[in-house]
Amino acid sequence: IELTAAAPAPVADWAAPLAGRTALVTGAARGIGASVASVLARDGARVICLDVPQTGDELARTADTLGATALPLDITADDAAQRIAAAVPDGLDVLVHNAGITRDRRLANMPADRWAPVLDVNLDSVLRTTDALLAAGTVHRGGRIVATASIAGIAGNNGQTNYAASKAGIIGLVRALAPRAAADHGVTVNAVAPGFIETKMTAAVPLLIREAGRRMNSLGQGGLPVDVAETTAWFAQPASTAVNGQVVRVCGQSLLGA
Ligand SMILES: NC(=O)c1ccc[n+]([C@@H]2O[C@H](COP(=O)([O-])OP(=O)(O)OC[C@H]3O[C@@H](n4cnc5c(N)ncnc54)[C@H](O)[C@@H]3O)[C@@H](O)[C@H]2O)c1
Repeated sequence: IELTAAAPAPVADWAAPLAGRTALVTGAARGIGASVASVLARDGARVICLDVPQTGDELARTADTLGATALPLDITADDAAQRIAAAVPDGLDVLVHNAGITRDRRLANMPADRWAPVLDVNLDSVLRTTDALLAAGTVHRGGRIVATASIAGIAGNNGQTNYAASKAGIIGLVRALAPRAAADHGVTVNAVAPGFIETKMTAAVPLLIREAGRRMNSLGQGGLPVDVAETTAWFAQPASTAVNGQVVRVCGQSLLGA
């Protein structure tokens, strides 16, 4: 085992701990991703908001409001990593894998075309792009990768075997990748595991299940996108160098997976 000198990056201005850094957030047109982009911009980062081209105006509006750059791109595209690298010629300091989808159905009735896209967007694309961007040196030393799991990836959830498998995969990926990314690239890899958060994704959930999600939270409310965003921004901070391979639940002590 070789020991190297720890080189903590000093923060010049605690009002803008990410000043001079570049952050890319996937799925940033709306919901949790837009909130993450907003908090990272508040913390001083230059932000790139990536989302599928179909989000068009919504993505442009979110990016404009934050003084960020919009990158319309499907993260499952074969050349997604190359196109991200081309969009950030000076490299990246913070990479937030937030894009995610659900295609709920009980396992007995789950056709392949509801299984595959969920695994592809939520897990496979995270693995592909992370591997390629680390190998290409696009993510700087001292960089931060934050992925988005879910308490469904810890506890499972009725009708969400595909989604739960993808999010459990994220937890495994983060744990497996973290030591290697730190040793080879000086980059940390962590994940947030949100509970029920009030977004367009959960607005599509039947009312009773939505209410259950709110009431299983010890704060007696649905979580807010900014709750997840602040935890992501904490992982992204220069001072969080020693936090690696961790999964932090942002769920108000949700009973699911307690
Ligand atoms: N809302 C919750 O309760 C909750 C709970 C746990 C985890 N999460 C996770 O948090 C993340 C954000 O969820 P949200 O609630 O904001 O959802 P949302 O549906 O409001 O937003 C998701 C965003 O991802 C984008 N996206 C989807 N597929 C994409 C692709 N192939 N390429 C690029 N962008 C793509 C969508 O266009 C959308 O803008 C997801 O990974 C989700 O699984 C959400």
